[in-house]
Parts: sequence; C-alpha cells; structure tokens
Amino acid sequence: NMNVAGLMCALRTRCVQTFRRPPLLLPPMSVSSSFFPVQRCLQSTQPVPAARLPYRVKLSAGKRYAWCACGHSKKQPFCDGTHKAKAPSISPLLFTADKNKTVMLCACKQTKNSPYCDGSHLKVIYRDVVKYVKGLFK
Ligand code: FES
Repeated sequence: NMNVAGLMCALRTRCVQTFRRPPLLLPPMSVSSSFFPVQRCLQSTQPVPAARLPYRVKLSAGKRYAWCACGHSKKQPFCDGTHKAKAPSISPLLFTADKNKTVMLCACKQTKNSPYCDGSHLKVIYRDVVKYVKGLFK
C-alpha cells in the first residue's frame, strides 16, 4: 500500500511536512477515518485526536482564544463547547496571543506543550499505522 510505505519512509527520515497535508502521507480525517479509525465514544476522559497533523493558525495580538483540549469540537482547533457533553472532565485551554503571529496548534491533543504542537502527533500516526498493519494480517 503506497500510503503506508510513504508514511513509514517519512517516519524513518523524520521528514513530515506540517504546513500542508501531503497527499501520499495521510488523507484528511474524513477520508482516512475508515482506514485508521480514531477512538470515538459517548464520553471520554482522555482527549481524542481531532486530526493527525497540527493546524496552522494566525493569532491576533491581545485576542483571547480557547484551544480545544478534548478533540471533540467541530470548530478545531478551537472550543465549541462540545466538551460539556462529550468530555466533561476536560476543559479548553484559554490563552491570549501576545502579538500577531502564525503558530502551529496541536490537533492530535497529545502535545505536552499545549496549545502548541510539540511533534507528539508522530506517535499518534505511528500508533495508527501499526494498528492498521496489524489489521491486515488478522
Ligand atoms: S498535532 Fe503535533 S503534537 Fe499534536
């Protein structure tokens, strides 16, 4: 499978493009979720990945933002209040931009430097690929 081979190569060389979704790496979540299902349940105590690559966002100086920490929001990467029903134990992260800047906001919700991407999505991609490849041999 081309996608898996391309992805394994990208993971090996640590060459993952983050500004645009590489067509051969992984299709958008809506397409890939049937191949790489993301954990979904009625209520979650752990965040769920909203996507596997970070969001590139322009922040405005002095503006307050609420970064979705649970992964359930439909207005990613920002909160739309869905956590109240889907993940009541997880709250959005409120922050104010100190200046106008473009940042990469975490989409996999596994970052240790929220709301910013710290590369943890590579672990999410690796985990999902391993799960997918194991599924091929069942
Ligand atoms: S999207 Fe990169 S660490 Fe979550």
